[in-house]
Amino acid sequence: MSESNRPDPQVKDLDDSENVSTNPSGNRPFIEVLQATMSRRRVMAGGLTAAAFGFLAPSVLARRRDDDDDFDDDDDDRRERRGRRDDRPLLNFQPVSLSDFANAPEPGRQPVISEDYEYDILIPWGTPLKSGIPEYTGDPTTRPSADDQADMVGIGHDGMTFFPEKARRRRSNHSGVLCINHEFGVNTHVLGKVDPETPDDVRLSQHAHGVSVVAIAKGFGDKWDVVIDAPQNRRIHVNTDVEFSGPVAGSALLANAADNPFQGTVNNCSNGFTPWGTYLTCEENFNGYFGTNNGDPIGGFDTLQDEAYRRYGFSQNGFGYGWQTQDPRFELANPDYANESNRFGWVVEIDPDDPDQRPVKRTALGRFKHEGAEVTVGRGGRVVVYMGDDQRFDYIYKFVSAGNWKAMRAKGMSPLDEGRLYVARFDDDNTGEWLELTIDDPVLAERFVSQEEVLTYARLAADLLGATPMDRPEWISVAPDGQVYCTLTNNSQRTVADAANPLAPNPDGHIIRWRDSRRFTGRKFVWDIFVIAQDTHGTEESFSDPDGLWADPDGRLFIETDGGQQDGLQDQLLVADTHTREIRRLLVGVGGDEITGITVTPDRRTLFCNSQHPGNGDPAVTNFPAPTDGVTIPRDCTFVVRRKNGGIVGS
Ligand code: FEO
Ligand code: CA
Ligand code: CA
Ligand code: CA
Repeated sequence: MSESNRPDPQVKDLDDSENVSTNPSGNRPFIEVLQATMSRRRVMAGGLTAAAFGFLAPSVLARRRDDDDDFDDDDDDRRERRGRRDDRPLLNFQPVSLSDFANAPEPGRQPVISEDYEYDILIPWGTPLKSGIPEYTGDPTTRPSADDQADMVGIGHDGMTFFPEKARRRRSNHSGVLCINHEFGVNTHVLGKVDPETPDDVRLSQHAHGVSVVAIAKGFGDKWDVVIDAPQNRRIHVNTDVEFSGPVAGSALLANAADNPFQGTVNNCSNGFTPWGTYLTCEENFNGYFGTNNGDPIGGFDTLQDEAYRRYGFSQNGFGYGWQTQDPRFELANPDYANESNRFGWVVEIDPDDPDQRPVKRTALGRFKHEGAEVTVGRGGRVVVYMGDDQRFDYIYKFVSAGNWKAMRAKGMSPLDEGRLYVARFDDDNTGEWLELTIDDPVLAERFVSQEEVLTYARLAADLLGATPMDRPEWISVAPDGQVYCTLTNNSQRTVADAANPLAPNPDGHIIRWRDSRRFTGRKFVWDIFVIAQDTHGTEESFSDPDGLWADPDGRLFIETDGGQQDGLQDQLLVADTHTREIRRLLVGVGGDEITGITVTPDRRTLFCNSQHPGNGDPAVTNFPAPTDGVTIPRDCTFVVRRKNGGIVGS
């Protein structure tokens, strides 16, 4: 969600959007105070440190020695060569210029795409996944029923991955399964009213959130469509059975007196996928779905849970969904569901091929407002997962699996269940360090009793380690030359700049990149800033509020935006050449929408991306994907983008 895109009369309490900091360490002076506090804690904890190393010594010290500053120069040279296969220009398409956009037939009401490209529309909100379910086409006088919505594509299209069908060991460019997140849809859009009035109203809202797993295939005229009744088709929503795995599974921190089953995923924002073929969906602004009719649950700082409520942005009204009025799970003051909120804020693994699999919440990856989970394979075959926590002044994390992912899986272990979680500190000399969130750290051992607490309250742990508060970390993508790119979407509240967040305030965002030691697995990194959005304003490269991101195998960087664009533009998809830093505009969306989610077919001849919350649901702004009629409710949907000459997308 962006400041400009946040609607709406329904949202009564904006205090807990990601645009507001809940990080009390949210500026440089405060972080200095925090560091002073940490030093004091370290002094106080000196005896404990000695004691801890006394009995932990062999493994802990061996591990620290092992982790040097090795930047893998040979590997980097090889990757660098891979990233620059030849000197042909990477960007050859005619961009949508500022005047092209201004002179388009219906700018803001219908999308505008480069003259070298074309698009179709796929799976708008309300598309049935099973036969016998009526399609919802944006009729303003009605809405889907809650039951039908559970078998339809949801709303709030966001991160997604195309899993190609495998036939005769070849990966198909014509059919496969799309896993797509449904981040959110406000009540005015989904229900057509501000407040839910019945349990079914809340169920409709809950069923419109979550994830769709949907088989798609190219049909007549090369047009992609849903394979109705395909065995993989399923909806995962707020009431779907899920399970927990990793260090927090089985913890009392997840137990409720009501003994209700583990259910649901919500505010599924960006995504990732694993080398073993599963989908990762990331729970971002989960706090906004909880509230209380029953007094303020945030009573001082008596308990760790109270402090966590504050740090994770829980509030009396949440984002105004009102679920707590009809569903006791989301009532923060209900003692029978005291830990329900701890069950959200995780990365969730979904098997796209097994419709009976229960989605698994991977707790080793920590609990925060997960934007995405970019997985790569590092030294020794370990998987490395990069993750942003999207809120003003929050952090960038990474997880490194304990061992080689194939060996772990051969032993029946998930590589996402055992490993180390780190948070980033960016130093002003363009180096940085990954700080481990472990109960073995005396600073954390002083505040928390277990690794379960460290992971469940990861934000609080990261505060104590002195992580660098960033300008809203959104998507992360690993480029073929080993550089890791991250969008920092904006931070209008920053008052003190630092080297990694150099604008105060930073209303339009920037993109940072780094290179980790030990082929992604080490504790050290070097970083620089790829682009500052403000510097593009007034030029043909103009963009603001970078959010979605994908580094392709050739050295292109696809940039998607979410927020108020300058120079008369709407939110857009751009492509940068990471070598020359040239940026070209490929697609511009409609009023109120955000361009997000990006995935391609194996041949990269088809690209899928999304229009999220077009018009913020207001038919007076746009009726997209329907033709403009001023009446039809706009619906979130997926663009199927192709180069007219059949070339690689972005070229
Ligand atoms: Fe869901 Fe931070 O975007
Ligand atoms: Ca955003
Ligand atoms: Ca969004
Ligand atoms: Ca985002």
